[in-house]
Amino acid sequence: MSSDELKRRAAERALTFVTSGMRLGLGTGSTAAHFVELLGARVRAGHLDVVGVPTSEATHRLAVQHGVPLTSLDDTPELDLTVDGADELDHDLRLIKGGGGALLREKIVAAASGRMVVIADQSKLVATLGRFPLPVEVIPFGYRSTALAIARAAGKLGLDPVLHLRSGSSGSPFRTDSGNLIYDCDLRAIPDADALAAALTAIPGVVEHGLFIGLCSAAVVAGADGIRVLD
Ligand code: A5P
Repeated sequence: MSSDELKRRAAERALTFVTSGMRLGLGTGSTAAHFVELLGARVRAGHLDVVGVPTSEATHRLAVQHGVPLTSLDDTPELDLTVDGADELDHDLRLIKGGGGALLREKIVAAASGRMVVIADQSKLVATLGRFPLPVEVIPFGYRSTALAIARAAGKLGLDPVLHLRSGSSGSPFRTDSGNLIYDCDLRAIPDADALAAALTAIPGVVEHGLFIGLCSAAVVAGADGIRVLD
């Protein structure tokens, strides 16, 4: 079975967490896209009555396309459930997110939700986070100084990061939905994710990082041998 089929299976299973009346956070990425599409089908068939807050402009467009009623965090500041993908997750439900560049809105939406359920194919489940380069969103002003500060902070924790400023499709630096830049930090392994998260948060110029700790309450992981729910 392809990884895309596994992503869709995880998304299908996550629909069992959704009931009518829920205020939902809608994640970003290819796995979350399956969820939005399947959710839209249920809504259009009259089986579910929900509202969603998209975590990116891309998810906003997708939700409109599939007929998912939308609201905003300003109008609906508390959500019941967010369903989102992840670039990596470990067995303690700590995540790396931001491969799609939406980590800032994803984290704000997840933090505003009573529950966050991650949907993923088996390849995303790792013993130690860090094989996937950690996205760190930075303010454009002084971004090169901020990059040096990120490298210094990681170095103090015994890490030796290689930082790449993310490029957009035109070759110029990628801009997030909030107009910021992203450094993808290749760390190879993050033995102490809590310490790294705290160190990154303390750097002026870092808007947010892709370590999601204490936010995910359950994960639906689809593999060739079936679906596992971790919680
Ligand atoms: C978007 O910014 C990310 O956090 C995605 O949730 C993550 O990159 C997973 O994407 P896929 O579902 O496309 O693998």
